[in-house]
Amino acid sequence: MTRLDRVEQTTRGRFTGPPLTPRTAVIWSVLADELDRRAGAELTVLDVGGGTGGFAVPLAQAGHRVTVVDASPDALAALTRRAAEAGVAARVRAVQGDGDALAGLVEPASADLVLCHSVLEVVDDPTPVVTALAAPLRPGGAASVLVAGRAAAVLARAMTGHLDVAAALAAAPDGSAGPRDTLRRRFDADGAAALLRAAGLTVEEIHGVRVLADLLPAAVADGQPGSLVELERALAARSPYRDLAAQLHLFARRPA
Ligand SMILES: C[S@@+](CC[C@H](N)C(=O)[O-])C[C@H]1O[C@@H](n2cnc3c(N)ncnc32)[C@H](O)[C@@H]1O
Repeated sequence: MTRLDRVEQTTRGRFTGPPLTPRTAVIWSVLADELDRRAGAELTVLDVGGGTGGFAVPLAQAGHRVTVVDASPDALAALTRRAAEAGVAARVRAVQGDGDALAGLVEPASADLVLCHSVLEVVDDPTPVVTALAAPLRPGGAASVLVAGRAAAVLARAMTGHLDVAAALAAAPDGSAGPRDTLRRRFDADGAAALLRAAGLTVEEIHGVRVLADLLPAAVADGQPGSLVELERALAARSPYRDLAAQLHLFARRPA
């Protein structure tokens, strides 16, 4: 049985699970391994910048308790509605707060799994956020961190003729194209891993997410979704494909 099959079973068994899209399949595969490893346990999950609950709600549906800390009241309101509609309101807690101020919001060493997806590229400074998300982890607990990749953005700008922007992105220490860029920074795998290590985490796996999805014509991506998901999964851990992905997924652990 493949990881993908297990994800579909885990999330489809009792509930309607998340659709396995090119954006999410690789991440769910990695998370499913961790859930399998802790099978039978009700995990305490913290989703930092969890937004409207795209990960939090399925994790609650799988039987875990999830606290979402997010800066946006609107996102948290949508999360609360989504959790109620999914019948898991009692297992999802919405907390408004800042990612670098988790200490006042959640107990230290209380979480089995911390998620921080698509957040480090938009916050003022990623270092205090990573430090803050490591602290609530129990020894042996895991962190799932998704960040924007720099290389894909350089290629995308170049392929649409914006060579000056591509050059700026490639050269900028923070992987940003400047004040008009929608993201404050992008990451290379080594830089993202170093950030997590500096917070005391051991990086166990790095995958590329959306190696191909953003490059394909919509007719191909929409016409062959299953094949695309399989190909994304096949390429996610392999060099050089991983490093060209639109996003990098790092799975790390607080040493026991
Ligand atoms: C791109 S969304 C990602 C949402 C979710 N993690 C996902 O993957 O679908 C970024 C989220 O981070 C939240 N956010 C941005 N800056 C934050 C901060 N400093 N502290 C907490 N949340 C923040 C935003 O409100 C938004 O919900």
